[in-house]
Amino acid sequence: MDSVPGNSTLPSCQENSSLLSIFAFFSINRPMLELAIHKVHDEERQGEAYAPFTLDPNQYSKRFYIESYGCQMNFADSEIVASILNQQGFGATRNVEEADLIFLNTCSIREKAEQTVRKRLTEFRKLKRDRPGTLVGVLGCMAERLKSKFLEEEKLVDLVVGPDAYRTLPALVEEAGSGQKAINVLLSRDETYADISPIRLDSNGVSAFVSIMRGCNNMCSFCVVPFTRGRERSRDARSILAECRDLFGNGYREVTLLGQNVDSYYYAGAEEETGYSEPVTFARLLEQIARISPLLRVRFSTSHPKDITDEVLYTMARHENICKYIHLPVQSGSTRILQMMNRTYTREWYMAKVDRIREIMPDCSISADIIAGFCTEEEADHHDTLSIMEYARYDYSYMFFYSERPGTLAQRRYKDDVPEEVKKRRLAEIIAVQNRMSLESNRQDLGKTFRILIEGESKKSSGHWMGRSSQNKVFVFAKNGGAAGKGDYVNVRVNECTQGTLLGDIVD
Ligand code: 5AD
Ligand code: SF4
Repeated sequence: MDSVPGNSTLPSCQENSSLLSIFAFFSINRPMLELAIHKVHDEERQGEAYAPFTLDPNQYSKRFYIESYGCQMNFADSEIVASILNQQGFGATRNVEEADLIFLNTCSIREKAEQTVRKRLTEFRKLKRDRPGTLVGVLGCMAERLKSKFLEEEKLVDLVVGPDAYRTLPALVEEAGSGQKAINVLLSRDETYADISPIRLDSNGVSAFVSIMRGCNNMCSFCVVPFTRGRERSRDARSILAECRDLFGNGYREVTLLGQNVDSYYYAGAEEETGYSEPVTFARLLEQIARISPLLRVRFSTSHPKDITDEVLYTMARHENICKYIHLPVQSGSTRILQMMNRTYTREWYMAKVDRIREIMPDCSISADIIAGFCTEEEADHHDTLSIMEYARYDYSYMFFYSERPGTLAQRRYKDDVPEEVKKRRLAEIIAVQNRMSLESNRQDLGKTFRILIEGESKKSSGHWMGRSSQNKVFVFAKNGGAAGKGDYVNVRVNECTQGTLLGDIVD
């Protein structure tokens, strides 16, 4: 996942398309829309609660509340959980005080993420006292990592459910309702929730995440994900296509295909079962989704540099509607550190991959994940990271300092020996380089015209639209009383910029 991140997995198809359209129509105001854009671990969305189904005609006697933390995969999983609970007669609420079921969908990627969840849990203590019978459940990566230890450590938790066990939620809720602690943290080799239609509770009605695979086999030494999300598995290609077609039919204009490592997507099997005479690779999947309609934009995240192929790059180049944006986590610019991280590429190999992307798609933007202060990192390694950033000219980066995670290869093999103040200083230097490069990249767009998909109103002004270019850059521009609206494409000429936003005007 690198960052699928973060920004999760999700799923599905369409038996519930009527339900889907109701919820798709009811779009809550996404907080800080403009800022939400490039984030994989989107800080603005951490702890976000889903909205009640206000347009849902059903009456519910029981309500659930769900808060999501971490990557897009987790946010997408919460939509699966919502779908499963809804089928069991639970309605969603944004008001935790009226909930019968409270869920936190958690993240373990860094220690800070876990601390945030622990702190949030303590806030439910009073609530449980005031409303006996309210159940508190922990979902996602922390549930998987800590298992029954969670129940021992956090007495107020009633349910612990790992990311592959959401289908058993109804039975677990019943068990917890009878006063027993309920837990299921079994990981699966084949669960992809392919047949479950996610309820798009937090949708802007224009862009949606579609999970194409779960888990990760990469074993980067710093990363807890292979332990919390299990082995990699690809979702049935037909169900992915069906979900994308359904989204397009419901007015969506952009899908982001999610997976920890999308480039290793591989769906194969007997033709009579799969409907495909040849295995479906990521490049083929991309192509098929791009063909749904030229009006449907296709994005994906995350790519592992070792797996992104020329075939994928040429497929991207061939289709105007496959967005010219690649999230290509580098993690470090030092070959020695990369080796210790088990990333399986060298500094030079990564640089050659960047060259290849630019050769095939000169207008492609690139972003990265970067970790400062990994075990044994010296000043020279850090400078290698700064210089590879300059080489790649990232338009954006997700930058972290190393946080040792229990059970990972790095925790078992290496000493977390870079002092915290050094990690933080190096991270600050990395952020400074990125900020400068993001501004430079935006300045180069001044005077140019881009095709923008309108996602909604600007957060700051009802007289402006907010949208994105193919390169994933955020645009804000005046509505000027024109006919264009949410979900439409417009050409925007850039006349001003900041580090994070391009400002412009609609042109013919
Ligand atoms: N410490 C700091 N950052 C980490 N990441 C993953 N594990 C750790 C860790 N232990 C970062 C990587 C990854 C992104 C999702 O989170 O950069 O690509
Ligand atoms: Fe991403 Fe590596 Fe973690 Fe897999 S092990 S999720 S590729 S950082």
